Amino acid sequence: MRTITVALAKGRLADRAIDYFGRIGYPCDEVKDKNTRKLIFENKDQRIRFFLAKASDVPTYVEYGAADLGIVGKDTILEEERTLFEVLDLKIGRCRMCVCGPAEAAELLRHNEQIRVASKYPNIARDYFFNRRQQTAEIIKLNGSVELAPIVGLSDVIVDIVETGNTLRENGLVVLDKVCDLSARVVVNRVSMKRESDRIGDIIRKLQVLVAEREKEEAHAALSGN
Ligand code: PRP
Repeated sequence: MRTITVALAKGRLADRAIDYFGRIGYPCDEVKDKNTRKLIFENKDQRIRFFLAKASDVPTYVEYGAADLGIVGKDTILEEERTLFEVLDLKIGRCRMCVCGPAEAAELLRHNEQIRVASKYPNIARDYFFNRRQQTAEIIKLNGSVELAPIVGLSDVIVDIVETGNTLRENGLVVLDKVCDLSARVVVNRVSMKRESDRIGDIIRKLQVLVAEREKEEAHAALSGN
């Protein structure tokens, strides 16, 4: 039996994903060791191995088949535009991609004026302004702390992830429009999907059940005010 390879986006998502895999019968405790410099972790009994990669590289590993499966945010999937199957929404790491800026910048959006946009996600920003709004925009690629851009005058607005909204609030910025909802997704290599359809299908079905159970628990907790 071939070993299935799973690429995980490093960070919080990876911890949650490993927990999910453990719950569906593919535990890999080694990966939880924060002190290790190892990059690949294998569960030999189950013929599955996991590796941690930079989020933006996960779709690349999956497209080329170096990983059969990947767990990565929808933001990265949209930005990287790789050829792969997106098969399941894990409904973890939920947040929003938004256009944000100082409140006055709403005018620039309202009147479809030429606008300067800073983002770690130039493809998503381009798609939003050019295709959805048909607004002329100059897109400036940044690599982090994007909220700085409108504050120091690099751009009028930003396109960025909003989770709690704390970063925006603390920097005097507001959400001007929502681009889309985001969460962690399971992606699959196109060839692996056919060649390993039984095992990959089994993993997806079990994850699906887990996601549904989690949703039910959350709805129940919300109803009972917990
Ligand atoms: C992300 C995002 C925002 C922030 C939003 O940045 O780019 O800056 O989190 O979260 P909040 O709404 O809960 O405040 P990240 O922490 O990944 O760091 P970065 O700015 O260096 O990209």
